[in-house]
Amino acid sequence: MRVLVTGGAGYIGSHAVRALTRAGHQPLVLDNLVYGHADIVRDVLGVPLVNGQVGNPDVLQPLLKGTHPDLVGSVFEAKTIEAVLHFAAYAYVGESVADPAKYYRNNLGDTLTLLEALVGGDHPIPIVFSSTCATYGPPQSIPMTEGHPQAPINPYGRSKWMVEHLLRDFCKAYGLPSVIFRYFNAAGADPDGDLGEDHDPETHLIPRVLDVMSGRESYLQIFGDDYPTPDGTCIRDYIHVSDLADAHVLGLERLLRLRERNELPNEPLIYNLGNGTGYSVQQVIEAAKSVTGRGLLAHVAKRREGDPAQLVASAERARVELGWRPRYPELHTIIDHAWRWHQRRHLS
Ligand code: UFG
Repeated sequence: MRVLVTGGAGYIGSHAVRALTRAGHQPLVLDNLVYGHADIVRDVLGVPLVNGQVGNPDVLQPLLKGTHPDLVGSVFEAKTIEAVLHFAAYAYVGESVADPAKYYRNNLGDTLTLLEALVGGDHPIPIVFSSTCATYGPPQSIPMTEGHPQAPINPYGRSKWMVEHLLRDFCKAYGLPSVIFRYFNAAGADPDGDLGEDHDPETHLIPRVLDVMSGRESYLQIFGDDYPTPDGTCIRDYIHVSDLADAHVLGLERLLRLRERNELPNEPLIYNLGNGTGYSVQQVIEAAKSVTGRGLLAHVAKRREGDPAQLVASAERARVELGWRPRYPELHTIIDHAWRWHQRRHLS
């Protein structure tokens, strides 16, 4: 199947491109390359890449129809796109507080343009959307199920939550089939070591720990050690990025099966993606020490605004309905794969 992957040059999108290819699908990447990496798409994934903004109909429409000049000679030429995986978004919580317009324009406004394009033809084109546990806001109960109340506390989380509403409304009004995945903490890297996380700036815990262990940074800040958790540091549910990617293929295939059987519900399919096990910042550091055999200098700093003490998923629904089984649930494996990638990308 011909699948448009927006944000396919980014961290999670690039792993999804690989999962799609391995499952026999044909991905086409649309990315504005603000944070994405063209070299990964061209040299590692070997799939067509179009540099452009999701919210630009002059790029989007010809891509969906196969008439974009960059598609000449490819399998996409003169062929319509059959499904979309929509990863393209900005995802820095702090920046979203400082510059909300940037987040609503890109994450919400551009997605509206995309959804209008998807329902503008003879048949709506199914979409799988990257949402986040940040749409829940502070947890009222752990583990968090899909039914947990949603009360996002920052513009990033709100931009994703609003798109969830768009998808509900577009499903009811125009019959747009959709899957919403709410990710917990994406981490790790493809086991082959040639795809992984490469953000600039990097804010995520595991790559920052590895930056210190490899000497790229001099010390780690631990944001708060006075949380109501066993060791006082925040607990998160780290999920391997390749497992996230696999879930997208399963979600898309389920959507299409339901459509074939005329059994599509009149609302999006919604799934949490996490392992259901939480690890504290301190436990992540200890695991990284044992994986890399290296130490690190860490200082306790004050709490980072908006960090809940604990976020742990119930991903039971994805297991039952999609048959999703994370292949790499162990924190050691997740860090080991991240370390392999880190060494190859940054230290060679
Ligand atoms: N942390 C540190 N030091 C660091 C970096 C992180 O102590 O240098 C801590 C954070 O305070 C947090 C934990 O490590 O307790 C994990 O932090 P990350 O930044 O890796 O991940 P978050 O849980 O903040 O963010 C993730 C996603 C976001 C999403 C958010 C929802 O990456 O996109 O979950 O809460 F918005």
